[in-house]
Amino acid sequence: MITRRSALSVTLATGGAALTGAGLTPLLAAHVRAQPTTANAPAPPGTVAKFQRPMPLLPEKKPAGRTGTSDVYVMTMKPARAQILPGPPTDVLTYDGHFPGPVIRARAHHPVVIRQRNRLTVPTAVHLHGAAVRPDSDGDPMDVIEPGTDRVYHYPNRQPHAPLWFHDHAHHLEAENVYRGLSGSYLLTDATERALPLPRGRYEVVIALRDARFDDGNQLAYAMGDRARNTLLANGVPYPYFQVAARKYRLRLLNASNQRRFDLRLADNSPLTQIGSDGGLLTAPHTTDHIAMSAGERADIVVDFSRYPVGTSVVLKNTTGTGPAEETGEILRFDVVRTAHDPSRIPARLRTLPPLPRPATERTVVLRMDEGGEHPGAYIDEKEYDPQRVDAQIKFNTSEIWTVTNANARAEHNFHLHLVQFRVLERAGRPPGPGESGLKDTIHLAPGETVRLQAVFDSYRGRYLYHCHMFEHGVRGMMATMHIR
Ligand code: C2O
Ligand code: CU
Ligand code: CU
Repeated sequence: MITRRSALSVTLATGGAALTGAGLTPLLAAHVRAQPTTANAPAPPGTVAKFQRPMPLLPEKKPAGRTGTSDVYVMTMKPARAQILPGPPTDVLTYDGHFPGPVIRARAHHPVVIRQRNRLTVPTAVHLHGAAVRPDSDGDPMDVIEPGTDRVYHYPNRQPHAPLWFHDHAHHLEAENVYRGLSGSYLLTDATERALPLPRGRYEVVIALRDARFDDGNQLAYAMGDRARNTLLANGVPYPYFQVAARKYRLRLLNASNQRRFDLRLADNSPLTQIGSDGGLLTAPHTTDHIAMSAGERADIVVDFSRYPVGTSVVLKNTTGTGPAEETGEILRFDVVRTAHDPSRIPARLRTLPPLPRPATERTVVLRMDEGGEHPGAYIDEKEYDPQRVDAQIKFNTSEIWTVTNANARAEHNFHLHLVQFRVLERAGRPPGPGESGLKDTIHLAPGETVRLQAVFDSYRGRYLYHCHMFEHGVRGMMATMHIR
């Protein structure tokens, strides 16, 4: 039997198509894929064969109904089995049976109500990351949905467009619950975004990236702080290919990993245009050759595949983080398979952001964890999370500058504020790069680094979290509470 690898090398040797540039490879897979016997060829032991399956599009969740004012959804958290690897299916935890969860599309000033039904055996709490919602709909870790019960969350959507993310947040369980699948996308749009001639419809694609480690039985292996999660998934499939037309695509990227940071680039180093970040569009597009995303960050990019001849492909690479390059150095492959009309454009101005008000207060936040030891502690301002304690008192309707420092010499962290989208004023003493100059809710901090950010607390009063979004650091204690009053 001919293996896929040898089929590829045979085709290469006979020179079916010319190489068109460094990192750009002729698309050979079409006829290979047509041979069913080779499609599921076993991978060498310990690794997962790449570019064997298409990247699925995440299903869009439709409202169960509409009241005069709101879209009403009913979602069920339930166990399911996903065909992730060749061989036995993987047990996963899901929203509505999907791994990862579905996409909800919402419009600004048009409220969404979601009844979440917990049909799992663990408590859950659903957090809409990046959203301004009342405290009782924020999915607070102590405010859980017990197995067999339901809870209704209210999302007023009184904020500009943004690629939001819903995920589990149940205290001490969130890291494992999200790892096992409790993650979904929530794309909030508004008139500003809709007026732009950006790629849309089938040319606007959500890609949820993450890592995982599987055991010999194809089950997700979970261990706190595991540094061997070396299988990369895009929309729940390891190293998929994605067939595209030779035109512009808007890719809405989410790093849904527990800890892993990605630094993404196209294998031929050709340009990517970043148009948005956590809190929606940047003020102007920014052309770069790489996009770094720590856990929880989102990036909105446009890739123009018209530069590639039909019949070629280009790999999306990752150039940072732990693991052998063979496993963690490539994520997915774009196969350019047809031409298409492209009326889309990237305007030179995407949005305006309001000027920042004068800050009422400045405060500092220090993130640190023990490096080494069997059960390393993780702290904000040298304290472990205590849900009873308020760590920051904030006056409603004021603006604050927070100076956040990663006090570790080796460990990376990032920093997430619930409730608000903030602006980055400085990173390591310098103005933020263009990709970080829009609205953000999560920001990476390299060892020893300091970031200054400014937020306005004018939406809701009450208690909200701030924490490192490397979930296992949060579980270990790197989480705190602010009280806006
Ligand atoms: Cu993604 Cu506390 O949140
Ligand atoms: Cu959040
Ligand atoms: Cu951390």
